[in-house]
Amino acid sequence: MKKISLTGIKPTGDLHIGNYFGAIKPALELAKEYDARYFIADYHALNTVKDPKELNSAIRQVAAGWLASGLDPDKVILYRQSSIPEVFELTTMLMAFTSKGLMNRAHAYKAAVQANNESGHDPDAGINMGLFTYPVLMAADIIIFDSDVVPVGKDQVQHIEMAQDIAQSINANYGKEILKVPQAVVQENVAVVPGLDGRKMSKSYNNVIPLFLPEKQLRKTIMRIVTNSQSVEEPKDPSVCQIFQLYKLFAETSEQDALASRYQAGGMGWGEAKEELFHVVNRCIAPVKERYDAIMADIPSLDKILEEGAGKARPIAAATVRRFRKAAGVDL
Ligand code: TRP
Repeated sequence: MKKISLTGIKPTGDLHIGNYFGAIKPALELAKEYDARYFIADYHALNTVKDPKELNSAIRQVAAGWLASGLDPDKVILYRQSSIPEVFELTTMLMAFTSKGLMNRAHAYKAAVQANNESGHDPDAGINMGLFTYPVLMAADIIIFDSDVVPVGKDQVQHIEMAQDIAQSINANYGKEILKVPQAVVQENVAVVPGLDGRKMSKSYNNVIPLFLPEKQLRKTIMRIVTNSQSVEEPKDPSVCQIFQLYKLFAETSEQDALASRYQAGGMGWGEAKEELFHVVNRCIAPVKERYDAIMADIPSLDKILEEGAGKARPIAAATVRRFRKAAGVDL
């Protein structure tokens, strides 16, 4: 039997090149060798997205993004998290084995509390139970499909470790392997894609380069990359420049070497470096965007793919829940 790869993307804004290199591309690479189950984490998004139109369109954007990037729905199960009610039943069961202290240690929750403390607010301000219990739902996403590997960015590794902890304590309690213990797969070289301001590209930092912008806007966005005040004449160090870090993701090795030499020789301004970056980004993204536009022009077919994916996913999910219910003694 092939091993199982699973990952999810939260539909909370425009898909960006950080999602593409951090999640979509490595996941599709793994789909060549593994049985893959990839999904849209729409109930995770509900924690922050309260506008129905926005959530609706973000869900379809992620689905179309997966497909435009090459996901073959005949080979990979593609579904929406919210279409699999068994995930939420499993979440409730996992809760019984998850210590509150484990949730207190989650990075995202801790950062929210710290931000409240620093700004003099109540430590719980703006924190809903969805955020607090986020790692349990994510553990259920993973565990319910007997996942062996979970391709994720570095920032998600703690969540996978929590899923391991939860699965292991359940297995230990019943004295047998009821639930598969998953492993994170982190693509070291692409784990952190820098954003416009040099920090990790992330919706929460508002520094993203969206994947499916019209060409003119893509160029404009790239021109907004923050640079230092070095003059045109000065030689520049490519290894500390986020324009160059991004360029490396898209360019051939020979192109990378050529641009690095121009950096080191001096005489090239930041505007020119950004033009070079725009050229390679657009070259890579344009065909993906063309497929994306075609998929988004036929929403009924897109929705049907998701429905069919849910139809394939549910029996697998139901089997895991049944196994656990039986072990737990709730099935009479
Ligand atoms: N938390 C992930 C993120 O923000 C999204 C996600 C939800 C996920 N459930 C998952 C990723 C299960 C991998 C496996 O990027």
